Amino acid sequence: MEVIIRPDAEAAARLVARIIEKELRSNPHLVLGLATGQTMERVYRYLVNLHREENLDFSLCQTFNLDEYVGLAAEHPGSYRHYMNRHFFHQVEMDLRNTHLPNGLASDLDAECDRYEKRIEGFGGIDLQLLGIGQAGHIGFNEPLSALQSRTRVKALAPATLAQNTPLFPDPTEMPHRAITMGVGTILRCRRCLLLATGESKADIIAKAVEGPITSMISATALQLHTRCTVIVDEGAAERLQGTDYYRWIFANEPEWKEFQDA
Ligand code: F6R
Repeated sequence: MEVIIRPDAEAAARLVARIIEKELRSNPHLVLGLATGQTMERVYRYLVNLHREENLDFSLCQTFNLDEYVGLAAEHPGSYRHYMNRHFFHQVEMDLRNTHLPNGLASDLDAECDRYEKRIEGFGGIDLQLLGIGQAGHIGFNEPLSALQSRTRVKALAPATLAQNTPLFPDPTEMPHRAITMGVGTILRCRRCLLLATGESKADIIAKAVEGPITSMISATALQLHTRCTVIVDEGAAERLQGTDYYRWIFANEPEWKEFQDA
């Protein structure tokens, strides 16, 4: 795992967008794993700018989102399909046939989860997976005690997640209590993971996820097992980390990061 600390949330999101840009330019058929949530909105803004101003082309890539609420139609303003269309897909002129999210309205949810895993495999697996982190340490909707080998399945949302996401619903009574999510094991199979966390409210959980013991109570700790995982944080989210001198040294000195110094 590598940790990169940027001065603020804008710089952190810009770096994530620049890394995605580099991967996409070197492989236009990239299979890109996507996340939703407030943190990611900035990343999508930067990607949309790169599309409009620097011709970043998403037309050949495939996208797979981490999760979708159970019981919401695509048109529902709280659904992740709605979020993705609005913040990203429509803005970068993506062919929606190349964009994949679990179907939270499927009559057989278990079959839908299997179908989603197979579809990911059918495209050769995910090359680059974008991740956020919840207050209780979830990645995707892998709530506490998610098996570290879990695959796409239905999860009940934890009280901390309900508290975090309910205010985002125009009508809070419509907030679903369950979601389909890629499993921790599904995420660990992605070839590269990029986790973005910004703001002091994430400082505690980032310190646990990066420097704490691996535990299914905090599914993000499983990323310590991943061979190519980069955690990008701003100063606020880095506040409780112990190893910051080392992390800063790596970013300043490793050749891989040279081209991103001014990103
Ligand atoms: C959403 C997802 C979640 C969020 C996490 C952080 O697709 O997978 O794990 O990334 O809950 O959400 P924000 O950015 O709203 O704090």
